[in-house]
Amino acid sequence: MRVVTIIPTYNEIESLPRTLARLRAAVPSCDVLIVDDSSPDGTGELADEAAAADDQVHVLHRPGKEGLGAAYIAGFRWALSREYDVLVEMDADGSHRPEQLQGLLDAVDGADLVIGSRWVKGGSVENWPLHRTLLSRAGSLYSRIMLGLPVRDITAGFRVFRRSTLEALDLTAVESVGYGFQVDMTFRVARLGLRIVEVPITFVERELGASKMSGNIVIEAIINVTRWGLAARWAKLFGSTAVS
Ligand code: GDD
Ligand code: MN
Repeated sequence: MRVVTIIPTYNEIESLPRTLARLRAAVPSCDVLIVDDSSPDGTGELADEAAAADDQVHVLHRPGKEGLGAAYIAGFRWALSREYDVLVEMDADGSHRPEQLQGLLDAVDGADLVIGSRWVKGGSVENWPLHRTLLSRAGSLYSRIMLGLPVRDITAGFRVFRRSTLEALDLTAVESVGYGFQVDMTFRVARLGLRIVEVPITFVERELGASKMSGNIVIEAIINVTRWGLAARWAKLFGSTAVS
């Protein structure tokens, strides 16, 4: 099983070295792709140095900050054009503990998408501010109801995809740029009838650097989830009227 972990970065110069070292130690067979959006703090150059010192580390440089979704799509394309069987999503800031990756990888035997979940039994968050916890739980609840998905942690960013799952999706159709990208991908995988499994993780708030979460990211997610939910209901209604 050839595995690559894709790490999107924007101004993560303080966090990336440690996350990278932990990941390489925790799952030595796993390759790494850092997708940097020309971080002004020099994260891209730091990633280049890491790649020069370790041939399992690769870097994709993008010209500017285009959001988490765009970075991941570019990373998926890079990996799909190479011989990887499994593609992992992981944050650079240490919130996703590399030591928990193997547990997620073990679960991909019986799943098409494995989600490292904060909101299933055994999952948790450490040091996350209350407003972020509430936002995350409310976002997952709203998405679950609007989209009819049985997933507890829909916005989670610690994930394992089988190659076949990403190949079955039309990546050019994924429109979300912010963190709503995670909801978008979950909804698409679920609509294909593929197997989604949640594995409990402990999400640890970053100690260094700053979150890139913004009001625009939240607004984009709310608008999209509402649109998709209404469109799905409309299609159901229209479909049933059409046949009767
Ligand atoms: N290349 C690139 N471009 N990377 C980005 C961008 C971007 O525009 N925006 C964020 N990132 C990277 C960060 O550098 C980090 O490695 C990762 O994406 C997550 O960003 P954070 O800013 O640390 O996210 P968070 O901790 O606030 O949010 C977490 O929770 C969200 C809600 O549950 C993450 O796990 C998200 O994935 C999750 O959706
Ligand atoms: Mn973070």
